[in-house]
Amino acid sequence: MLIGIPREIKNHEYRVGLTPAGARELAANGHTVIVQRDAGAGIGLTDEMYARAGAGIVDTAEEVFRRADMVIKVKEPQPVECAMLRPGQVLFTYLHLAPDPGQTRALLASGATCIAYETVTDARGGLPLLAPMSEVAGRMSIQAGAHALEKAQGGSGVLLGGVPGVKPADVLVIGGGVVGINAARMAMGLHARVTLLDRSLDRLKYLDEIYGDRLTTLYSTHDAIEERLAGSDLIIGAVLIPGAAAPKLVARPQLKLMRPGSVLVDVAIDQGGCFETSKPTTHQDPTYEVDGIVHYCVANMPGGVARTSTFALTNATLPFAVQLANKGARQALLDDAHLLNGLNVHDGKVTYKAVAEVLGYDYAPAARALG
Ligand SMILES: NC(=O)c1ccc[n+]([C@@H]2O[C@H](COP(=O)([O-])OP(=O)(O)OC[C@H]3O[C@@H](n4cnc5c(N)ncnc54)[C@H](O)[C@@H]3O)[C@@H](O)[C@H]2O)c1
Repeated sequence: MLIGIPREIKNHEYRVGLTPAGARELAANGHTVIVQRDAGAGIGLTDEMYARAGAGIVDTAEEVFRRADMVIKVKEPQPVECAMLRPGQVLFTYLHLAPDPGQTRALLASGATCIAYETVTDARGGLPLLAPMSEVAGRMSIQAGAHALEKAQGGSGVLLGGVPGVKPADVLVIGGGVVGINAARMAMGLHARVTLLDRSLDRLKYLDEIYGDRLTTLYSTHDAIEERLAGSDLIIGAVLIPGAAAPKLVARPQLKLMRPGSVLVDVAIDQGGCFETSKPTTHQDPTYEVDGIVHYCVANMPGGVARTSTFALTNATLPFAVQLANKGARQALLDDAHLLNGLNVHDGKVTYKAVAEVLGYDYAPAARALG
């Protein structure tokens, strides 16, 4: 199969759909890989590295899309990219179609087979191609929060780990899923005092077994959160209710309970945010202040550490890419129910139920649509 990797064109997107190691793996399986010139340049993955891995370097996205049987990307295709897709071609990338009727229409019109990273599942009920980005965001939330606590950033001037003779900061993590556990790990590693709240007793039990008395776990109620506001220097919002907007767990009047200069990092901002005063920000201007409290609400945190995110993402996507290339998309999808869950659009039909429902299309079950 001929696999094409275009350079990402969304504003400030430096990630790339395949690393040189991934290209080498696909080449070793007998496939041809072409990579657009400078596709990984922003994160130190040079054309020479791809060429050494056996990939061909091509000058334009047009050539990648024209020649490739399968296009592997990171972000959803932009209109000019959708226009280059053709019937029978495979697109493997993040799509997030439900809130994006324009992109859905364009993918349907292309006739291509479009597999969305975010809906591929695993045997434990998880989302294995979304989890790496949650790991990144969880770990990054503490480093972003620590920076925001510095005086020059508007913070209270507290060092997370304290020093001998001075107490460490108190960190509150709301939500103990993939983001939450990674945030808690980082905060504990920096010697902060960490409390984590979740609604799942099973999850709290699991975290308690792993971390013992290094981590205080609490059942999440509005009461429990409110009680902790006054004593917390840094609060991480890491909740998720699948398919729903994030619940609002801290209301604006409650900010007055916190010490001025304390920091809220709302990782759940991509689902609307879990603090009433959250609004999406960018890496260029990540924080703002409301009632003396610093808010960090970057909606695409992994983009800020694009190199780490690229390796984390491609570690997870590569085994699926190899399956798709070795067997051909149709057979690979039919052989693996979890990969099949990733099929969102095929041959002009919407094959993912939630997308069809939200956008008002007929739903064609994936296995049937593949024929
Ligand atoms: N901003 C970004 O760049 C970025 C990156 C990755 C993920 N995210 C977002 O981070 C959020 C968390 O993602 P995740 O992968 O950790 O999800 P997850 O499903 O692994 O974990 C969510 C956890 O929240 C818990 N929860 C639900 N309601 C709660 C409540 N009221 N109080 C306390 N806990 C509650 C659930 O029990 C679950 O353990 C999501 O909104 C996700 O979209 C954002």
